[in-house]
Amino acid sequence: MQTLNQIKYLRAALNADKNHGGQVVLVPTMGNLHEGHLQLVRRAREVADIVVVSIFVNPMQFGASEDLSSYPRTLTEDQDKLDAENVDYLFIPDVPEIYPNGVDNHTTVANPSLSNMLCGIHRPGHFQGVCTIVNKLFNLVQPSVAIFGEKDFQQLAIIKRMSSDLCMPIDIIGVPTARAHDGLALSSRNQYLNNIDRVKAPIIYQTLQKTRDAIAAGSKQYGTLCESAKLDLKAAGFEVDYFDIRNQKNLTLLNNNDSDTDIVILAAATLGETRLLDNIQISI
Ligand code: PAF
Repeated sequence: MQTLNQIKYLRAALNADKNHGGQVVLVPTMGNLHEGHLQLVRRAREVADIVVVSIFVNPMQFGASEDLSSYPRTLTEDQDKLDAENVDYLFIPDVPEIYPNGVDNHTTVANPSLSNMLCGIHRPGHFQGVCTIVNKLFNLVQPSVAIFGEKDFQQLAIIKRMSSDLCMPIDIIGVPTARAHDGLALSSRNQYLNNIDRVKAPIIYQTLQKTRDAIAAGSKQYGTLCESAKLDLKAAGFEVDYFDIRNQKNLTLLNNNDSDTDIVILAAATLGETRLLDNIQISI
């Protein structure tokens, strides 16, 4: 694996590979890699010849009160893990390499229609930061495929929409959420949980499963199901940002008795200081 931190070297290396007919796949990450990230890398290896992973903790997607400075950075361990997965290139730019005129002066990309809901309400500007960095990485790497986790369902929907709206010739693939033995969705932020909260954290997935099971059994009382799920989460000590049932593609909120068939149940809730995010998709 070659580790590169400058755009010019990454482009030179990839141009040489592409001239030999190689298809490139990109896995964008913020590092602190866990099994969930490695599953994205393994999927990448299946779909193209040249696997590029980026690690960049993108300041543009963090709010002023968020954990940018304390976000876990574990580059040496990450490099070892990616080496073991036979990744071809690891791109690790620093902030000035990506934002040479400063983060606040950079051109931005946004999709307001899918961003001004769910996490976008609780993290203003977050998805504009995500779209901007992902767009920039797409332009730098020019992959034919890019891989993202389904855990960040709204992020994936926005990236798919951005890439289709802007006619990007890139196949965007989502990979199912990797989970711990007790069902908790893997996330770099899980390590912020204290021991007591770590035991409680899987309740978020259990609540999603309970709602999914009710829908699978025929309930279309979507509003009522969400209210009852929120009460369950609050009773277990979560502060709930949202628990919604929406259309998978356009993220429209479902009302009681709506006839949509491809549904996603999405939850975000904070336990202690840790904001947890999860979702379950269901087709009826
Ligand atoms: O999901 C993430 O880790 C980040 O939002 C991404 C897609 C790498 C953009 O910084």
